[in-house]
Amino acid sequence: MIDEIRAARDAALAQIERADSIESVSALDTSLLGKKGSLAQLKTQLGGLPTIDEKKAAGQAVNEALQTVTAAIEARRAELGEAALLAKVQAEALDLTEFVGKPTRGHAHLVTQAWERLEDVFIGLGFQVAEGPEVETDWHNFEALNMGAGHPARGEFDTLFVDHAPPGEQPGRTVLRTHTSPVQIRTMLEQEPPIYIVAPGRVFRRDTPDATHMPVFHQIEGLVIDRDITMADLAGTIEAFTKAFFGAEFTSRLRPSYFPFTEPSAEFDIQRPDGSWLELGGCGMVHPNVLVAGGLDPEVWSGFAFGFGIDRMATMRHQVDDIRDMFVNDIRFIEQF
Ligand code: PHE
Repeated sequence: MIDEIRAARDAALAQIERADSIESVSALDTSLLGKKGSLAQLKTQLGGLPTIDEKKAAGQAVNEALQTVTAAIEARRAELGEAALLAKVQAEALDLTEFVGKPTRGHAHLVTQAWERLEDVFIGLGFQVAEGPEVETDWHNFEALNMGAGHPARGEFDTLFVDHAPPGEQPGRTVLRTHTSPVQIRTMLEQEPPIYIVAPGRVFRRDTPDATHMPVFHQIEGLVIDRDITMADLAGTIEAFTKAFFGAEFTSRLRPSYFPFTEPSAEFDIQRPDGSWLELGGCGMVHPNVLVAGGLDPEVWSGFAFGFGIDRMATMRHQVDDIRDMFVNDIRFIEQF
């Protein structure tokens, strides 16, 4: 009897071992452990054994066999369950590398690169970075900068006017700033001198796009206000900037010019190592009327300002011959830099 029990147990264990799905394990659970299972059948025969000891021993053996088979079924069920889960997870997992292809890494746009480098160089020279709004009042953009009523830049022909008016302003007296110079006024009104700031930003003019003009472009403004600032400080700063930004082989010069908000005014050019000159921007000593508009006493404070195009610097540096390429966002162009 004991041998039969062991044989039935081993046969059951072998079947469990061969089961390859949760469903077949469940079927074995019923057939092996149910009333019609071989071990249950053997149990019914215990009563026919001759001695108490034999009954006892066989009974114990059947119970042990049932326990072993039950444990084997549970173990196999867990094993197959885990495998099934793993297979499911693997089947459903998204292979992202398949969609993305080989990983690519982006980088800053040409204009942003130039903007950030300019900031770095000026910070290195002791300047702080200031900001102003792109939608400006007529007063900040023109009036406070000594551009009176008749100034041509104030006409519809050059400037984009905005219908919206901030509280206290007349509609149609608000503009998309035509230069970064209004940040001069805002900075003077906001902080006490000494002031050493640069203000990079987007500016707008009513221009038809061509190879050298865009209705939207970028400038960087510089403003220094302190005691006893002279034109020599301006020239020295421009020269220090030129060498820091372009390299020691470059130099700069100032050429007389005119801006309503600086007096005297100058254009500044840089000389390339091959000897050729390139016009970079405008500059000059801050006009006394501008200091007054900024709430400063021209008898106490003096300063200089400069402004130039960021896009121009970037196109120059990378020999881009059409400024429109900087703004159309054609990936084939952008990826080159
Ligand atoms: N705002 C002037 C321009 O847009 C440049 C400039 C800035 C000139 C500061 C002098 C001083 O052309």
